[in-house]
Order: sequence, then C-alpha cells, then structure tokens
Amino acid sequence: MANKSDKVSQLLEPWSDLKGKVVFITGASSGFGWDFSINLARAGCKLIVAARRVDRLDALCHLINNNFESTTSNAPLAVPVELDITSDPPVIEAAVQNAWTAFGNIDVLINNAGVRGGTKTTLDLSNDEWNRVFKINTNGAWLCSKYIGSRMRDAGKGGSIINISSIDGLNRIKGTGRLAYGTSKAALHAMTTQMAQELGTHNIRVNAIAPSIFRSEITKGLYEKKWLKNVFDAQVPLPFYFDAQVDPSLTELVRYLIHPASKYVTGNIFIVDGGNTLAGVPIWSSL
Ligand SMILES: NC(=O)c1ccc[n+]([C@@H]2O[C@H](COP(=O)([O-])OP(=O)(O)OC[C@H]3O[C@@H](n4cnc5c(N)ncnc54)[C@H](OP(=O)(O)O)[C@@H]3O)[C@@H](O)[C@H]2O)c1
Repeated sequence: MANKSDKVSQLLEPWSDLKGKVVFITGASSGFGWDFSINLARAGCKLIVAARRVDRLDALCHLINNNFESTTSNAPLAVPVELDITSDPPVIEAAVQNAWTAFGNIDVLINNAGVRGGTKTTLDLSNDEWNRVFKINTNGAWLCSKYIGSRMRDAGKGGSIINISSIDGLNRIKGTGRLAYGTSKAALHAMTTQMAQELGTHNIRVNAIAPSIFRSEITKGLYEKKWLKNVFDAQVPLPFYFDAQVDPSLTELVRYLIHPASKYVTGNIFIVDGGNTLAGVPIWSSL
C-alpha cells in the first residue's frame, strides 16, 4: 500500500509514476542520456537505450535490469540498440524497427545524442567538422523522429518527442567558436516547432529542452576548476547554479513531458539554465 508521501507525490507530481511508458533514448551511453535512463527506469519506464558504444549500453542495461523491477513478469526493463545516427537512413530505420519490436511500441523518443565539436570560428571551421556536427545533432535527430514518428502515427496512440538542445542554440547567447554547435542546436529548435506543427494532428507532441552546463560525466573535469564557481556566481542569478545536477533539474522536466499531464504542451523550448542567459544581469551588476 502506498505510504502518505507517495500519495502526496502522486497528487502533486503525477509524472513521478510513468509505469509502462516505452522510451527510446539516443546517446544513452554516457552523460545526460545515462542519467535520464536511470531516472526513467526508477519511474517505471521501459527503455531502449541507443548509442555506438555497446559495452556502455550493456553496462547500463545491466544496472537497470538488476536494480529496478519490471512490471511485466520476466521481461527486461532496458534493452540496448547499437546505433550510429550518422548512418544511412535505411540503417537507422532498421535500428528503429528493432527497437519498436523490443516492446511492441514506443511512446517517447528522446533525441539526446549530440557532440560539441571543436571550438572553431566561421573563418577556420572545416567543412568536414560542420557536416559531422550537423549530421549528429540535427540530421540524426530528424531521422530518428521520422522513423519513430511514422510508427507512432500508424499505431494511433500519440507520443512525445523530446529534443535535447542547448542554450547555445538560443538567439540570446552566442559564444565565439561555437558556430557549428550553436547553429546545429538552433536548427534543432526550428525543427522542434516545425515538427510540433506537423505531428500534432497525430497527437505527437514535440518539445525541446535547452540546458546550460550541468554536472555530468563530460563536465566533471570542468567542475574541478577552482575558478568556475566564481564565474557562475558573477554571471548567473540563481545561487544554486553551481550545484545544478541533471537530476532533478532536467529529469523532472523530461518526466513531465512524457506524462499525459503535459498533453496540451507542444512546440516549446524549455530553457533550464538558472537564468544564465538572461541578458544584462552581469553588465548592470558590475557597473
Ligand atoms: N553536458 C552539458 O552540460 C550539456 C549542456 C547543454 C546541452 N547538452 C546536450 O545534451 C546532450 C547529451 O550530452 P552529454 O553532455 O550527455 O554528452 P556526452 O556524455 O558526450 O553524451 C553524448 C552521447 O551522444 C552519443 N553520440 C555521439 N555521437 C553519436 C553518433 N554518431 N551516433 C549515436 N550516438 C552518438 C554518445 O554515445 P556513443 O559515443 O556511445 O555513440 C553519447 O552517449 C547533447 O545533445 C548535448 O549537446 C549537454
């Protein structure tokens, strides 16, 4: 029987229970994708975890399947799918078909795989680097959306697509040397609203989450720099920014966008940055 705090959480945060939702997540082998997968397993989701590093995916599935209970008898809660999202479209479609067959359905796609690329400016960025960043951050997200979205449409049960973008894709912040990354994430924002428009008729919602820097596997080294806290304190309005963790700041939003509580929510870009990109704050405070 549910205890009192479970009941309260059910009433106030219904998205804490996502039992039975099938989630396909790209870039699950590290960082955000890894953290999202563990968190969603805790909420009862079934997971198809995709990336290129299969050893990491196996380790993630092992961790999930040994620590969280499946609601359906002996079926695993998480299964791995090897996928390079720069592959040719038929390869991606075949991986999606495998993923769909694993649980017979997919309710949610999280387009999380992404690369930052080098810090090259307009004048010294190579064509190859531009293409590589776009192929992963933008093209890959579109192809996964296309093949999963068409199956969601045919299944007639609706769905939710969540694109993990970045504050670098917003029109209110630009950093030198982020041409390919920032532009690819801005394209992901444009894609989010366009897809929301086109897929809404099939009850498929499409939203993006634009995070700033969070404590995660790939930012571990950065967080060890002594100066980082001073920079954050000077720039970012919310005081707890330095301690921002993927869970709960991003995970709660992901859960909400999966849950029917957000059934009227589509075409949005949710900025999660502690106010980092609010224009003017550091300028006025330093005068
Ligand atoms: N960390 C932050 O502070 C931050 C801030 C803003 C936005 N983001 C965004 O959040 C997302 C996740 O980033 P992260 O910080 O978690 O970085 P990460 O730890 O480097 O994770 C990136 C993931 O993308 C996958 N990936 C890369 N190239 C791929 C390809 N060709 N095919 C399939 N998968 C590929 C990687 O898996 P494999 O190498 O195994 O394929 C890995 O699992 C990215 O879209 C990133 O732009 C992160």
